[in-house]
Amino acid sequence: MKEDIQILAIESSCDETAAAVVKNGREVLSNVISSQIALHTLYGGVVPEIASRKHIEKINQVIETALSQAGVTLQEIDAIGVTYGPGLVGALLVGVAEAKAISYAAKIPLVGVHHIEGHISANYIENKDLEPPFLCLVVSGGHTHLVKVADYGTYEILGKTRDDAAGEAFDKVARAIGLGYPGGPKIEKASQNGNPNAIPFPQAKIADNPYDFSFSGVKSAVLNYINGCKMKKVEIVPEDIAASFQKAVVDVLVAHSMHAVQEFGIKKFAIAGGVASNGALRECMREACRKRGVAFYHPSPILCTDNAAMIGAAAYYEYLAGTRHGLDLNAIPNLKLGER
Ligand code: KG4
Ligand code: ZN
Repeated sequence: MKEDIQILAIESSCDETAAAVVKNGREVLSNVISSQIALHTLYGGVVPEIASRKHIEKINQVIETALSQAGVTLQEIDAIGVTYGPGLVGALLVGVAEAKAISYAAKIPLVGVHHIEGHISANYIENKDLEPPFLCLVVSGGHTHLVKVADYGTYEILGKTRDDAAGEAFDKVARAIGLGYPGGPKIEKASQNGNPNAIPFPQAKIADNPYDFSFSGVKSAVLNYINGCKMKKVEIVPEDIAASFQKAVVDVLVAHSMHAVQEFGIKKFAIAGGVASNGALRECMREACRKRGVAFYHPSPILCTDNAAMIGAAAYYEYLAGTRHGLDLNAIPNLKLGER
């Protein structure tokens, strides 16, 4: 096999149209992201049909920019990596169709990638020494998974959310206290001027699996608190609600993660996904890991939220393992981690 493997990666599962060129899984030659956030903000959340249309409009330009910024031509690309699930079906289809078209026209192997595998693999990019086995908490707008990464491409899901994803809870609470979309960064900012101990919001424990999560309770508690204040004509302090909510979520994420660290005796712990860019979560997790002598890994914020560099990192290890997809590759909106 030739020495360097260069992957053109494409990601379009939600509201970012993204393309990247990644060398040998860990060296990002370009990472282009066209965000639709401003567009969806008008509606208070992602509108799937608008997302698909915008992906179609942007994808060619984003891919061309990724190749030119990397200084690489299609002839120098060894494989096309593309997210084929989970995500919004119409949005995924745009990336998958584009990847198949390039693969066919330029005769380049196609490697379909699971979006969560991409989020986890974002950790490889800036942590050159990180290798499995390790534990990883994936917290995004659509997913909350505690995963044992046994090897490259081999995952054991220890726990996941029973209802809302962590990011979804951030988005819903932000809307309830009038901060708008996307909620995560806005809650984090408001929290800096709030008291995290002002309101004791509940932290759900799931009786039959200590690694599962539930965030619908804390979300409802916030809504009930706001309604109660309105009825009693008590002034609402959005910053205190934001800080107290953030603390409730962070505390439960850290507690479940450290439980797993203790049980599995794995001395490496990583976080991934949009919520992993939250400063309070990173600090609490770092401290909890430090106390236990566990190495803590996290991607930079730009590699936490949706991007194609992480898909390139995941595609590299899939490529090495021999994963190849045909032109019958389809978008699978509810694709399970570890499925092929
Ligand atoms: O990974 P991602 O970009 O998309 C999905 O795969 O879902 O995650 C987006 C989610 C949104 O719910 C957003 O509110 C949340 O990540 N998020 C944050 C922060 N930045 C983004 N949540 C908490 N704090 C942040 N700083
Ligand atoms: Zn994502």
